[in-house]
Amino acid sequence: MTHLEAAPISARSLQDVAELLACPWCAGPLALGADALTCRACARSFAVQDGIALLARAGTPEATAAQAPTLTSRAYQQQYQAVTDATRYNESYRKLFSKRRSTEREHAILNELLGSQGRAARLLDIPSGGGRLSPVFDAHTELLIEADIGLGQVVYGAMHTVLSKPAVRMTASAFHIPLKDGAVDGTVCCRLCHHLPTPAERERLLGELLRVSRRFVVMTFFDHDSLKNRLRQARAPFDKKPPKMTMTIAQVKTLARAHGAELVACPALFALFSGHRFALLVKRQA
Ligand SMILES: C[S@@+](CC[C@H](N)C(=O)[O-])C[C@H]1O[C@@H](n2cnc3c(N)ncnc32)[C@H](O)[C@@H]1O
Ligand SMILES: [Zn+2]
Repeated sequence: MTHLEAAPISARSLQDVAELLACPWCAGPLALGADALTCRACARSFAVQDGIALLARAGTPEATAAQAPTLTSRAYQQQYQAVTDATRYNESYRKLFSKRRSTEREHAILNELLGSQGRAARLLDIPSGGGRLSPVFDAHTELLIEADIGLGQVVYGAMHTVLSKPAVRMTASAFHIPLKDGAVDGTVCCRLCHHLPTPAERERLLGELLRVSRRFVVMTFFDHDSLKNRLRQARAPFDKKPPKMTMTIAQVKTLARAHGAELVACPALFALFSGHRFALLVKRQA
């Protein structure tokens, strides 16, 4: 009995998106075989394990490596490779009252933002974690792609997420999303940006999300001007806590413009008790 038997994923669903896949190393097209995907351009091979395509290219984008080689999110990428670590993360969101309340509010915000964009044929959730937000996406798309760099998270999601349709699951880095340009209608990226230590990584993230999305992106970031961050800054000389990895709304707007999109809504998760905001970026149509 394999660990995925509780919620088997249909191999057909990976086939459904085979045409949309692109090599995370060279962007070449991928051919789907019996238990692996092979790049037709560079011949790299990517295993498919229990229906999960292992397409994660770990590491930092080239710009970060050149500018700040020691300051990267590389270590964070390793945090949820094991299912036990992913389980601990996801159970805490199920058990703690404050986290359950946060999830409820996140669901409500996502419902509203996605509802404003009309139904999607294909939606990408990266990083999907253990599928905490997936039940919301189910109602807004015909096909959901759940991707995370942590294999443990993707496996946890496959075991626990109940959806009305099959999801496609893969490991992937948000810095090298293994999809062609405009492959999905929209992409959601929650709670990753504030783990990225450099402006180069944050810009790369935003650029990749917008590259693979034909219409829109919803992305969370930690607002530099939030009360939560201002208080943290004020306390820093005393409690020595490191600064949060933040962005201003203006920075998000400028980056979105540079990558062909407009910031059209930016609700706060909780105005007083959280610094997280949801940015809805809508692509300019040619
Ligand atoms: C805080 S969790 C959020 C997961 C989910 N979006 C949620 O809100 O529950 C952050 C996730 O980012 C993943 N991660 C870290 N670096 C990544 C990267 N470069 N690309 C894709 N996922 C990444 C981690 O494995 C982890 O599951
Ligand atoms: Zn390739």
